[in-house]
Amino acid sequence: MIKKEKIVIVSNRVPYNITKSGGEIKYKKSVGGLVTALDPILSKNGGLWIGWNGHTGYDKDFQEKIRVEDKDQGSGYSLKFVNLSAKEIRDYYHGFTNRSLWPLFHGFIFQSYFNLDYWKSYRSVNNKFADSVLEEISGKELVWIQDYHLTLVPRRLRKINPDLKLLFFLHIPFPNYEIFRVLPWDKEILKGLLCCDLVGFQTLQDATNFIECCKKILAIKVNFKSKKIYLEDRVVDVKNLPISIDFKRFNDLADCKESKRYIRSIKRLGIDTKIIMSVERLDYTKGIKERLLAINRFFEKYPEYRKKVVFLQISVPSRTKIKEYITLKREIDELVGKINGRFGDELWSPVNYLYKALPQSKLAALYKISDVCLVTPLRDGMNLIAKEYVSCKAEETGVLILSKFAGAAEEMKKYSILVNPYDIEEVADSINEALNMHGNTKKMRISRLRNIVQKNDIYAWANNFLNYSKNIYTS
Ligand code: UDP
Ligand code: G6P
Repeated sequence: MIKKEKIVIVSNRVPYNITKSGGEIKYKKSVGGLVTALDPILSKNGGLWIGWNGHTGYDKDFQEKIRVEDKDQGSGYSLKFVNLSAKEIRDYYHGFTNRSLWPLFHGFIFQSYFNLDYWKSYRSVNNKFADSVLEEISGKELVWIQDYHLTLVPRRLRKINPDLKLLFFLHIPFPNYEIFRVLPWDKEILKGLLCCDLVGFQTLQDATNFIECCKKILAIKVNFKSKKIYLEDRVVDVKNLPISIDFKRFNDLADCKESKRYIRSIKRLGIDTKIIMSVERLDYTKGIKERLLAINRFFEKYPEYRKKVVFLQISVPSRTKIKEYITLKREIDELVGKINGRFGDELWSPVNYLYKALPQSKLAALYKISDVCLVTPLRDGMNLIAKEYVSCKAEETGVLILSKFAGAAEEMKKYSILVNPYDIEEVADSINEALNMHGNTKKMRISRLRNIVQKNDIYAWANNFLNYSKNIYTS
């Protein structure tokens, strides 16, 4: 078990959206894989989480640390906020992180924008985060830096406190050499990450890409087999550790009072169609447009399913000020309209589209009652929806259709229907295959998938990661 009070997590965003009204602080969990994965770890073990609170500028209400306690989960932890000005949000958050790094790391080179002001802001905001960490530590803590927003934080921390134990985990893919070297500041990002003791990635391919970039771009000695990078004065370890979820929590959530009530309310509507579901942030990496085209093709090619199947698409508003996201939202709205206009009738629409976030208790209920879950990102670091879906299937029914470009495919491909999300015909046919799959086959597959997720749940993942520092953590 991880010892308490020694972990400091630093990520761009704290895991709660926090607002103050009438003197009362209200907090609501933010949506995203990073939060789903790490919140239970700090909740159980305690510690400090440092990040931006999502607001613009200095806010006197958020200068003090806040303690968050999740009644379901255990002891709770502290939050400390980093303030970002409107310009920093524009250049660092909407700019360098989400218009340069996010598209490039997902392989969308032609959607990546490189701009010197974005980069300068990224550098200075990373220093700001590092300074916020330095105010809190004595040197014995384990500082665990998260994701692509903060790749330069380790550099300042190492410079000021050379003995710190620094870990980094990248939640998104790390691109191959040919893509990564397109970034004008490729060396700086690599050097920043190499100030850590351990750099973790979702998949073996990501880890190998990183090592190869260090070798070719920085001309330093590396060992692909042991995954070590040799600097003049230190050795950096690289690991591939696929992130996971709290299996038990999702398993139980699917059966909790709130989900049961929600399922009853759905059943009362008298819907007796099969349900195919998809859920994610509205993001171009998630393949929502391509999936809708596959749904269109499915109802065209297999007309026998009209009125017998409904496709539930839940899209969570995300990064709504960025041009590419605004355009995508419009395109999705139009596509949904076209499909419903083409196949729907007075009492049935093929696509049920929600543009909002749902609490995980409702998601768990929907996972539980859905016959098929379509997880078809064009590229994804991991994709926790795939893991959540099978965790909510204690009855061992349902079929997971999974993109081969999701990190989750490395562990889950054998027992899901693996697809190329760009291949509209293949995805349409895979839905037909899923709906016709024999009960015993479904049972066997879901049960194997559940075992995989249960065995490498988020606690196993965290122990793997954190046990690395044996002098601070015990196993
Ligand atoms: N999620 C949620 N409510 C929603 C949609 C999604 O709480 O309406 C959560 C979901 O349960 C999952 C996370 O958001 O834990 C999405 O993680 P994933 O790794 O799939 O994608 P990311 O958003 O990190 O790219
Ligand atoms: C992905 C990233 C996370 C991020 C989340 C939500 O999961 O890996 O770092 O927090 O998306 O994105 P947002 O921009 O709303 O924080």
